Amino acid sequence: MSVLKGRSLLEPMDFSVAELESIFELADEIIADPKAFAKVCDGDLLATLFYEPSTRTRLSFEAAMLRLGGSVLGFSDAGSSSVSKGESIADTIKTIACYADIAVMRHPKEGAPRVASYNSDIPVVNAGDGGHQHPTQTLTDLLTIRREKGRLSNLKIGLCGDLKFGRTVHSLINSMLRYDDIEFVLIAPEELRVPEYVIGEIEKSGKKYREVSTMESVLPELDILYMTRVQRERFFNEEDYVRLKDSYILDSDKMKLANEKMIVLHPLPRVNEISTSVDSDPRALYFKQAKYGMYVRMALIVKLLGKEVS
Ligand code: NCD
Repeated sequence: MSVLKGRSLLEPMDFSVAELESIFELADEIIADPKAFAKVCDGDLLATLFYEPSTRTRLSFEAAMLRLGGSVLGFSDAGSSSVSKGESIADTIKTIACYADIAVMRHPKEGAPRVASYNSDIPVVNAGDGGHQHPTQTLTDLLTIRREKGRLSNLKIGLCGDLKFGRTVHSLINSMLRYDDIEFVLIAPEELRVPEYVIGEIEKSGKKYREVSTMESVLPELDILYMTRVQRERFFNEEDYVRLKDSYILDSDKMKLANEKMIVLHPLPRVNEISTSVDSDPRALYFKQAKYGMYVRMALIVKLLGKEVS
């Protein structure tokens, strides 16, 4: 019986390194033979409660459940649910738990999925809460790194763009702190630097890091470049967004400066920060990363529902 059965995933640190490894090993098995898992969740129902826009996360959860033989229901626009009538998160999840076996929630308010999990007797997965955390994107990122670099330790990772509001950045840094010989290069304009609380965690771990404001000079030394979009929806005023949105644009010329084995990741959606001319570079892995995201979510669902797979 899986030790992850019945658990919720709210922050990446909710699962130990060994538990994460068990998810990645199952994802490897699924990637090797997806058809063998086509009926594992037959009769199970996954609910997607999305109070904020999403393409990849919601559709990859839905695709994951459907590929496991389960079914999906939910809403992708809070305006079309009873939330618009003033229903609380607690009441919504208590009701959904009567219908479904597992719920995935994205919400603009930090901590909302945690409130849901306290009121739920089915597993709740945080699919992004405000500028806080996005643990299943981190599972995606870690699986991609593990498969494409062959390891999760001994890596120098550059994170570039909106490191302040980018929840995927906060979750990824948090998780990578648990692996050996990790070094961070944090590339951001002054206003979009990593929040103090995340810097505090890096310092507590004793891992090496430095904050820089240009990408050119650090490209040759990186094993991984993790690009991010400037998070327009979290800005207080449009002027600041317009001033900062094109701070970094990765293009083919800049890729010439990078190591030939460096991989480029991005949680997507992309706006301008990676020129489409980079897409054909074999080091550009962001679309492959999106595919890994579906497989790792399949593995997560199987584990949280405690399905036996032989
Ligand atoms: C990210 C998110 O929602 O935080 N997208 C995703 O889930 N793949 C990144 C982003 O929106 O910039």
